[in-house]
Amino acid sequence: MDVKIFNTAEEIGVAAAEIIINKIKADDSAILGLATGSSPIPTYNELIKAYNNNVVSFKNVKSFNLDEYCGIPASDRNSYYTFMHQNLFNSIDIKEENTQVPDGNPEDVEVFCKGYDEAIKNAGGIDIQVLGIGRNGHIGFNEPAEKFTKGTYKVKLTESTIEANKRFFDKVEDVPTEAITMGVESILDAKEIILIATGTDKAQAIHDMVKGEVSPACPASILQKHSNVHIFIDKDAASLI
Ligand code: F6R
Repeated sequence: MDVKIFNTAEEIGVAAAEIIINKIKADDSAILGLATGSSPIPTYNELIKAYNNNVVSFKNVKSFNLDEYCGIPASDRNSYYTFMHQNLFNSIDIKEENTQVPDGNPEDVEVFCKGYDEAIKNAGGIDIQVLGIGRNGHIGFNEPAEKFTKGTYKVKLTESTIEANKRFFDKVEDVPTEAITMGVESILDAKEIILIATGTDKAQAIHDMVKGEVSPACPASILQKHSNVHIFIDKDAASLI
């Protein structure tokens, strides 16, 4: 694991965006795995800046998002579909048909999940996966469990995750309790991974991921087994390592 400690979230954004931009410059049809949440926003801002400055074009890039809430429509202001359009897609030249955010309300969950994994494989696999990390060590919405998960599936969110996500909703009862998420195995299939975390509330999860044993009790700890992972964190998130 390449662990780098930065002073600010903005510096992390610059460093993460640089890796992504260099990848797209080397291969203009790169496949990106994307995350939502607060952690990747500075990175997305840097990507938008680079696009506006004609440094990079996303016109042949494809993207697959990690996860989506169940029980709210894609058009909801809190859906990850909306998040991605507001924070990245609407501000760059990526083609709508080249962006995929999981359907949070598929008619047949199993068929949908299998199809999502196949679509990633058929596209050639994810070149760079952007990840955040939950306070409980989740990646995507793979919550602490007894076993590492495999492909895309429907998951019940834990109380800790619902609590963390309620900041975006009017009432805690409005926070979705289930999600469709890529599994741990699908995440590990990415050729390169950038995990971003800031703040003291992530310090324990970062400790367990980097220094703990590889265990599904901290899903992110599996990243120790991947050969090309960048962990980009600030001093607060690094305070226990
Ligand atoms: C989001 C995702 C989650 C978040 C994590 C951290 O697509 O998969 O694992 O990355 O919950 O969220 P933030 O960055 O908001 O602290």
